[in-house]
Amino acid sequence: MGKVIAVANQKGGVGKSTTVINLAAFIGSRGRKVLCIDLDAQGNVTSGYGIRKKTVQYSSYDLLIGRAGIGEAVIATEFENVSIVPSTSALAGAEIEIADLDDRLKRLKMQILMCRDSYDYIFIDCPPSLSLVTLNGLVAADSLIIPLQCEFFSLEGLSQLDQIIKHVRSNENPSLTIEGILFTMFDPRLNVTNQVVNEVKKVFPDQVFETTIPRNVRLSEAPSYGMPVMYYDKSSKGTEAYARLGCELLGEKYTEKPKKKLTDILKSKKKNKSERK
Ligand SMILES: Nc1ncnc2c1ncn2[C@@H]1O[C@H](COP(=O)(O)OP(=O)(O)O)[C@@H](O)[C@H]1O
Ligand SMILES: [Mg+2]
Repeated sequence: MGKVIAVANQKGGVGKSTTVINLAAFIGSRGRKVLCIDLDAQGNVTSGYGIRKKTVQYSSYDLLIGRAGIGEAVIATEFENVSIVPSTSALAGAEIEIADLDDRLKRLKMQILMCRDSYDYIFIDCPPSLSLVTLNGLVAADSLIIPLQCEFFSLEGLSQLDQIIKHVRSNENPSLTIEGILFTMFDPRLNVTNQVVNEVKKVFPDQVFETTIPRNVRLSEAPSYGMPVMYYDKSSKGTEAYARLGCELLGEKYTEKPKKKLTDILKSKKKNKSERK
């Protein structure tokens, strides 16, 4: 049965969608079957995987309002072992449509139950809010990845999210765990970075990923080409960071493929030349 991991933080622009896209791609490349569920009306994971929203027949909106089953909404992507339940702007209307239903918090969970056996990992990209849609993600998940930027206000956001997690645990989803807090756009040269890291580790000991994600321009360019960073630039810092995170999640050792240095290539060329003489 696949593990369901929601990527959540009510703050926008912290790297949730980027994490879903690139973590899923790496884990898929390691031979695991992965499903990404795009739960954000902005559809960044959908477009980041090169899926044009105009071509989408059923989306996460249809799942939540019960107009389609998850099997109908899943599309295979062009990338190894990754499928996706896309999202479109229609999702913005779901909130109102499900608000009065008794099972409004469990609608996604019920859908996921029907397909859990077909995947090793299911990642849910939550919207930047503490809405009913986000709660559907938290109720459906086994664990959470919380991307965090090292800013002072992140701490307030984190404690607010922690309260929601506790609430969900004591009601709909007692076994919800924190997979890890992930520092994104990480810059260890800044004082504030170290202050925030220390503070978070104090409050959430053993719940912080060892891997941090640096700021890397390739990570922000890749979505506009509709591909995860590892396919866009395999030697970028962004590719390496998400590979490290993927290994940490899978409990595997990260081993960097040895890169040939330019000086080594020139040396071996020289050697070949002198041998021919
Ligand atoms: N590590 C990074 N380095 C550089 N740019 C990043 C990084 N992570 C995310 N971005 C960019 O920052 C913006 C917000 O990231 P995104 O993943 O969409 O955040 P969220 O889903 O939390 O709103 C996007 O333009 C994205 O391409
Ligand atoms: Mg997003």
